Amino acid sequence: MSKIHAAITAVGGYAPDYILTNDELSRMVDTNDEWITTRTGIKERRIQKGEGLATSDLAVLAVNELLRKRGISAEELDLIIFCTTTPDMPFPATANVFSHKIGAINAWGFDMQAACSGFVFGLATGAQFIETGKHKKVLVVGADKMSSIVDYEDRSTCIIFGDGCGAALLEPNTDGYGVIDTVLKSDGAGIPFLHMKAGGSLKPASHETVEAREHYAYQEGKAVFKFAVTNMADVAAEVMERNSLVADDIAWLVPHQANKRIIDATAARTGVTADKVIVNIDRYGNTTNATIPLCLWEWEKQFKKGDNLILAAFGGGFTWGSLYLKWAYDSK
Ligand code: UT7
Repeated sequence: MSKIHAAITAVGGYAPDYILTNDELSRMVDTNDEWITTRTGIKERRIQKGEGLATSDLAVLAVNELLRKRGISAEELDLIIFCTTTPDMPFPATANVFSHKIGAINAWGFDMQAACSGFVFGLATGAQFIETGKHKKVLVVGADKMSSIVDYEDRSTCIIFGDGCGAALLEPNTDGYGVIDTVLKSDGAGIPFLHMKAGGSLKPASHETVEAREHYAYQEGKAVFKFAVTNMADVAAEVMERNSLVADDIAWLVPHQANKRIIDATAARTGVTADKVIVNIDRYGNTTNATIPLCLWEWEKQFKKGDNLILAAFGGGFTWGSLYLKWAYDSK
């Protein structure tokens, strides 16, 4: 029997309506459009507004689109891997909250916390359940409401992040399409440079932690940049070399959208030309777990059956990884 691969058979996405522009940010903190554009490539990002809305609500909209496109109901899902750094609550898992909201009554699920590498880790994990034959339909969601943990008084972080969600459905394929290979890494030596100081068991929430603004994302940008720029490029190159792929074999490079300069470095290292590098950071900023699936969602119509895609991510932890995927369908 031919090997079972986990193929993406549908994607969905959602970005909230509210657009936070560089100009609006420049009225909130000491920054300007020129600085943000040249240092990051970001022009605007989306923000989820409204009382009582959370990360899972972004996912409901994205996944309802996916299910509609695939022509299946939520009840057909076997497993939901919810990749997020901004869960609705510390517990239970947002996978539970979300599956209840969409009526995925036959699925089990869990949250994947790997910061900006979450979606790549989630796809790699979900693929295992398909490849073993255990499951037929695995939903991998990448969603973050970064505005809930961003300090809008800290100009070095608030300019980067945005809210959004993307999702992909994995199903078995025996014709050689789907997830072919992955290179996944993590190293806790990166903790000091990107983390949230309070709200966990190390430092539970208190008046003092709130006053000290310790429930916001803390980032030493320059240090993170240095690691991201080499590591994301290295894993992308590694997964290509391991599979004897050269730049001309790659239809699309799908990089995590953290900084246009990191994307450019990854493209340069792999030799993939700019016309094949997916970039939407200018419109969404860094949506953490959602960057890569939002790219897949926006470019879906341009993908052809058999296209070689290289996904590459880098995030807090540090975590990083790359995934080689053979696209499984022509979009209608
Ligand atoms: O997605 C997960 C991982 N995260 C990342 O990959 C992010 C990686 N890091 C970065 O993208 C960049 O480091 C940043 C965009 C966060 C910062 O860019 P940078 O080129 O590394 O700037 P910097 O931190 O070295 O700061 C340069 C200068 C500083 O001023 P002085 O000390 O040179 O006078 C900052 O105070 O720019 C200043 N600065 C700003 N100026 C205007 C920092 N933020 C701003 C700002 N507007 N928003």
